[in-house]
Amino acid sequence: MSSYEDYNRVSRSYDGTRRPVGLNIVLGALASSGAPLDSLKLVDAGCGTGAYTAALRDHISNIIALDISEGMLGAAAKKNVDGNVAFLRASIQALPFRDRAADALLNNLVLHHLPDNEAAGYPAQQRVFSEFARVLRPGGALVIGVCTREQLRHGFWFNQLIPSAIRACCERTAPLEVQISMLKEAGFDVKKPAVPWDDTLQGDAYFNRLGPLDAAWRDGDSVWSLAPPEELKLACQRVQNMEDDGTLADYVNDHNAQRLATGQITYLRATLR
Ligand SMILES: C[S@@+](CC[C@H](N)C(=O)[O-])C[C@H]1O[C@@H](n2cnc3c(N)ncnc32)[C@H](O)[C@@H]1O
Repeated sequence: MSSYEDYNRVSRSYDGTRRPVGLNIVLGALASSGAPLDSLKLVDAGCGTGAYTAALRDHISNIIALDISEGMLGAAAKKNVDGNVAFLRASIQALPFRDRAADALLNNLVLHHLPDNEAAGYPAQQRVFSEFARVLRPGGALVIGVCTREQLRHGFWFNQLIPSAIRACCERTAPLEVQISMLKEAGFDVKKPAVPWDDTLQGDAYFNRLGPLDAAWRDGDSVWSLAPPEELKLACQRVQNMEDDGTLADYVNDHNAQRLATGQITYLRATLR
């Protein structure tokens, strides 16, 4: 289970705003396993509603998509009815595969949901990276999508409306250099991280200035569920007040500007030694 978001509920609205971004980066990284893409056995670990699985199916014929939420898996299965994708309910903390079973592994925007401990150096994440190393064959490709702390603080126009939610999400997000060290420790060679600069996780819906007032829109980014009720109420009041006095569009433009320098998502790309 996510340690804070109710993904069984969220599964009903998630696809309304979310898009599989950075696909070219993901495909390029998966191709680094040294075998042709269409011959790979790929695990989409934490597949959610299967947006990436569905997009990758055109290139990769053998995909196992797993998630811990029954609701998210159900939505993923509906999207992939005619494909040769296997769906599994499982946790990335204990992958139900034998050693060296996979050629490639995608893990997109899942790690911040682990029950982890910043002060102790993110032991849950360390264990998950060891699990990824166990399941991949030598040379196998690993792609991990994360919103970095910098992206969380500056990559989304609404983030200053919910400061304690952003702080909580940053605590759950190991600094990128720490994640890279943990991956190396687990046995991976790590390439330079890649950012799809122009992509927004929620596509055009990200620019909907009244989005924060709509619970289904907020379900498109789990950071909202970390906002205490009073902070959420104040954020909605501010959005409504700015809309009423005609300043909201400028607020969105001004606060979106930094996204162009940070992007919203970073891909860690690695191969197993
Ligand atoms: C933000 S969504 C990302 C979904 C998908 N990877 C995507 O990018 O569209 C996070 C997903 O991680 C799943 N998740 C959280 N903790 C997990 C765990 N320990 N094992 C497997 N999936 C987990 C949630 O159920 C949710 O579907």
